[in-house]
Amino acid sequence: MRANTPTAKTNANKKVFIKTYGCQMNVYDSDRMADALAPAGFVPTRDAADADLILLNTCHIREKAAEKVYSELGRLRKLKGERAKAGKDTMIGVAGCVAQAEGEEIARRADVVDLVVGPQSYQALPEMVARAGRGERVVITEFPDEDKFDSIAMTPKKILASRGPTAFLTVQEGCDKFCTFCVVPYTRGAEVSRDVNKVLTEARTMVEAGVREITLLGQNVNAYHGEGLDGSPWSLAKLLHALAEIDGLWRLRYTTSHPRDMDDDLIAAHRDLPSVMPYLHLPVQSGSDRILQAMNRRHTGDDYRRLIDRIRAAQPDLAISGDFIVGFPGETEQDFNDTMQLIRDVEYAAAFSFKYSPRPGTPGALLDDHVPDAVMTERLHALQALITEQQRAFQESRIGRTFDVLFEKKGRNPGQLVGRSPWLQPVNVQAPERLLRTMQPVTITHTGSNSLFGDLAESDNHAALHDAQVMAQLETAS
Ligand code: 5AD
Ligand code: SF4
Repeated sequence: MRANTPTAKTNANKKVFIKTYGCQMNVYDSDRMADALAPAGFVPTRDAADADLILLNTCHIREKAAEKVYSELGRLRKLKGERAKAGKDTMIGVAGCVAQAEGEEIARRADVVDLVVGPQSYQALPEMVARAGRGERVVITEFPDEDKFDSIAMTPKKILASRGPTAFLTVQEGCDKFCTFCVVPYTRGAEVSRDVNKVLTEARTMVEAGVREITLLGQNVNAYHGEGLDGSPWSLAKLLHALAEIDGLWRLRYTTSHPRDMDDDLIAAHRDLPSVMPYLHLPVQSGSDRILQAMNRRHTGDDYRRLIDRIRAAQPDLAISGDFIVGFPGETEQDFNDTMQLIRDVEYAAAFSFKYSPRPGTPGALLDDHVPDAVMTERLHALQALITEQQRAFQESRIGRTFDVLFEKKGRNPGQLVGRSPWLQPVNVQAPERLLRTMQPVTITHTGSNSLFGDLAESDNHAALHDAQVMAQLETAS
C-alpha cells in the first residue's frame, strides 16, 4: 500500500501550495500535481505561508514570464527565511513551461529553488520531493517516452466531488503547427492524444463524483486523434459522440481549436449533439493574409470567414471567441485594419488580445521590422474597444431569453447562486442553495459588466401559481 511507504510517513500532514499561471491546461495540471502528491501525504493549502512545499506552475507564452517567476522567487525567499526562523522547512519548486524552457538556468539563478519540473514529468513529483528532502537539487525537464497521462494518478472521486460540477479533462497535449510566434511546440512538445478509453474512463469517474460539465483541453484540441475503441484513430467529433452517451454528463466544451482542424464532422457535432455547448474558441490571431502567412497559420482571413459561416449554418446560436496578436513584426496600418475588418465581419462574443512579444527560440524572434511599442498599445486599445462593444452587444442580446444555467457556487450576495450560461457567461440568480450543481432554466433580466442577471424561470411559475392560489383563497373567503 502506498500509504505505508516511507515517503508517506515522513510527509504525513504536510501542506502544498500551488500557484498557477497561464492557461486552463496549467489549471488542470496543478490539480494533477496535487493528486500526484496526495499519496505521498501532501494536502493542498491556499496559504503559501502555511505550506511545506510551494510549487509555481508557470506560463511562458508571453512577455516577461521568466522575470515574473524570478521576482516571485525573491518573495518566496523571504517567506522561506521567516518560516526557517520558526523552525519550519520550506521546499520550493518551479513547474510548467518556464521550468521546461529555462531548466537548469532556474536552479542556477535562484538558489532558493529545490526542484524544477517540466510539464511532462509531474508523475515524478513524489520522488523528486523525497530526493530534494535529502538535500539534492532536482531538475527534470526531459520528455519521457512513456505516456505522461498514464503515469499520473487519476483524481480520486472524493477530491473531484469537492471541486464542483464543472471540470477540465486534458485529451491532447502539444502542438505540431509551429506558428512562428509561439513557444508551445517547444515547451509542450509534439502533439499527443490520449486513448479514447482512458478519456471515457476519466469522464465517467468525474460524472460519478457529480461533474456535469466537462471541458476537453488540448493546445490544439481539434487535432485530437486518440486511439479509438476499435483500434483506429478517432477524431474529436467521434470522441464527443461517445462522451455525449454518458448519462449525467449534461454539457461538453472543448478548447483551444485551430481553424485548419475544424472538420465537417466536428461542425456537424455542434448541430447534432445537444450537450455540445454553442460556444467555440477559435483563435485567428490576425485578419491580414500577409501577417497570417508570416505567422505560418496556413489559412487566409477569408478561409476563416467561410469557416465561421459553415459553423454558424450548423449551429446558428453559436458564440465565437478568439485570440488576437497586434504588432507582429512587419504589421502595417493596413494589416491592422484588415484585422479590425475581420472582427467586424465575424462579431465576437469575447476575445483575448495581446501585444506581440518575441519568444526566445521561435522563428518570430529572429524577424526584424518591429512595431514600436506605442503603436502596439494604440492598436491594442482600438481592437479591445471594438471587442468590448461586440461583447456588450452579445451580452445584451441575452436579455429576455430563457435558457439553462448550471449552478456552480454561491454568489457574492446572500441567497444568490452563480452558474454558467451555455455561452460561458456567469449568470447571477436569487436561488436556494439546494439548486447548486443543478441546471435550471433562467430568464435574463439585465447585464453586468462581465456577467448576466436573471430569475429562475420555474420560480416565476411557482410565484405565479402561489399568487393564483392566494387569489382563489381570497375569492372563496369573500
Ligand atoms: N506574443 C503575443 N501573444 C502570443 N500568444 C501566443 N504567443 C504569443 C506571443 N509570442 C497568444 C496567442 C495565443 C494565445 C494563447 O496567446 O493569441 O492564441
Ligand atoms: Fe501555438 Fe496554437 Fe499555433 Fe500551436 S496552433 S503553435 S499552440 S498558437
